[in-house]
Amino acid sequence: MSKFISLQNGHYKFSDGRVGLEGIELEIEEGEKIVLLGSNGSGKSTLLRVLGMLYPLQKGKYFFRGKKIGKRVSKELRKEVGLLFQDPESMIFNPTVYDEIAFSPRQFQLPDWKERVEKIGKELEISHLFNRNPLELSRGEQQRVMLGAILSYSPSLLLLDEPTSALDPRTTGWFTHFFTQLEITAVVATHDLMMGYQLGKRVIVLGENHKILYDGSYDQLLGDLELLEKANLISPYPPTRCFCQTPYPQLLLHHHRKKEEKK
Ligand SMILES: Nc1ncnc2c1ncn2[C@@H]1O[C@H](COP(=O)(O)OP(=O)(O)OP(=O)(O)O)[C@@H](O)[C@H]1O
Ligand SMILES: [Mg+2]
Repeated sequence: MSKFISLQNGHYKFSDGRVGLEGIELEIEEGEKIVLLGSNGSGKSTLLRVLGMLYPLQKGKYFFRGKKIGKRVSKELRKEVGLLFQDPESMIFNPTVYDEIAFSPRQFQLPDWKERVEKIGKELEISHLFNRNPLELSRGEQQRVMLGAILSYSPSLLLLDEPTSALDPRTTGWFTHFFTQLEITAVVATHDLMMGYQLGKRVIVLGENHKILYDGSYDQLLGDLELLEKANLISPYPPTRCFCQTPYPQLLLHHHRKKEEKK
């Protein structure tokens, strides 16, 4: 049986000669949720755009459900992937949030598009924003709305580029719970080691040479501080004050346990 996704020796270079990705070998099973880590400029956004069929590889091969992806991508294939850009504002082009969420289901001629928009509004708690101009929303609201605009057409591969970068702690908590319950194949790029840990058990780390530095268990990665430092995922500077030695982490766990017990 073919893999859901297979990238073989994937290379991507920009028109100015700058390297985005080099020699990427990656296989993803259907239903896997993968966290993508790496320093600024390592290639996370580029990799998501390759997987999202926006950037065709110049060297190497990309297979999606066994089908080779080239320069031309059919509408049917486009419908399979949903990519939330790092900058959600650049995805906006409709006058209202409602139109933004309805856009793709209508484009793909899904007969139940109206029900889908209502459902997304409820699930993502954004119905109250339906009449607003998406360009006038806060960045955190835009992130949530544009996630809705993608989920509204039910892609089978979800690609999220730093989806919580502008979210407040409550909304980040909402997102991690929502995401964990979604039954979908997903790759999520983040700089947040602790939040990422909640999203997936498999983690891929891109190095500054735009190659995969690590692909494996998240738990194991957290035990390898040398690799974390090499990948710029932790600071080489010792903390000026150590947060983990305050009572806060234990108190937080205790607080949530007590709330669970009350339920
Ligand atoms: N449009 C572009 N033209 C030229 N070079 C680009 C372009 N977009 C990205 N790059 C370069 O490609 C490399 C990978 O960039 P990419 O945006 O994928 O990194 P990233 O890991 O997503 O970084 P960040 O954490 O800052 O979002 C970088 O060296 C970047 O400067
Ligand atoms: Mg990026």
